[in-house]
Amino acid sequence: MKNFLSVNEVENLAHLITNALAYKANPFKDAHLGDRKRLGMLFLNPSMRTRMSTQIAAKNLGMDAIVLNVGQDGWMLEFEDEAIMSGSTVEHVKEAAPVLGKYFDILGVRTFPSLQNKSDDYSELYINQFIKYAGVPVLSLESATLHPLQSLTDLITIQETWNSSALPRRGAGGEVKPKIVLTWAPHVKALPQCVANSFAQWITAWGEADFVITHPEDYELDERFTRGATITHNQDEALKDADFVYIKNWSTYKDYGKIYCNDPEWMLTNEKLAATNNARVMHCLPVRRNVELSDEILDGPNSIVTQQAGNRVWAAQAVLAELLKSR
Ligand code: CP
Repeated sequence: MKNFLSVNEVENLAHLITNALAYKANPFKDAHLGDRKRLGMLFLNPSMRTRMSTQIAAKNLGMDAIVLNVGQDGWMLEFEDEAIMSGSTVEHVKEAAPVLGKYFDILGVRTFPSLQNKSDDYSELYINQFIKYAGVPVLSLESATLHPLQSLTDLITIQETWNSSALPRRGAGGEVKPKIVLTWAPHVKALPQCVANSFAQWITAWGEADFVITHPEDYELDERFTRGATITHNQDEALKDADFVYIKNWSTYKDYGKIYCNDPEWMLTNEKLAATNNARVMHCLPVRRNVELSDEILDGPNSIVTQQAGNRVWAAQAVLAELLKSR
């Protein structure tokens, strides 16, 4: 694995999931793999889970991890080629990235989308500029359109939960695939499509689930990521017999970055959950209580959001190990 931006860089997904779960069972089994190696982590946007879990993962492998909050502590970066830098940007990525490439063996980058310009965001200009100029492997800590460390986490959480037989099986022989539902939820702000795009991309690549996406009209995601999923505007229908329900808000993709609907009826409640197969409820966090997801769900027995967030460490560790081994 040269860089880690999406599921497309993963040669063997089943193997990566197995490795992540092996790190969960034995966090220090490769405690020297990253000896004398440094991970640089650049945050152009806020983070709690990604920042902390990736630092812990690096430490478990013997790496040093250094964080720079570019938005607060660093120089404001320019990404456009041929920019005349007479505005607020102070340093071009053409200088910043190769300098960081001298300091670090792997460079992690978080860059959210503008939600103003779809073609800029969907070209992944920022993270691609780092890949172009850093000269070391680049690890996405969430980019403009995808959040691959989150999606790998989601898959290992689904796999360990499904394999633990905590869920009653629908099929008589117990061998059916899990039904996984990604449902849109209301939110007060226009949010990126990253988590939803990425979740859809990874679940369809995994191929071990009946996968349904449900959202209000006009919230269609980019088909490149949802191909292979069943898509419906009827949330009640989608939730029927679900084994896992993944809650996420996203802003509109076609008429880019808008809020068309904020119908509170789309928020998951215990009444809606009753139609599922006692489904486990997932969310990447942070979550707005009683807007995206109700108290009764988050505080109830079906929520696995903290288990899921805990698994961020093992996903990051498995990916860092792959990047280290490929160097
Ligand atoms: N889920 C997630 O990426 O959390 P943070 O934004 O806190 O890193």
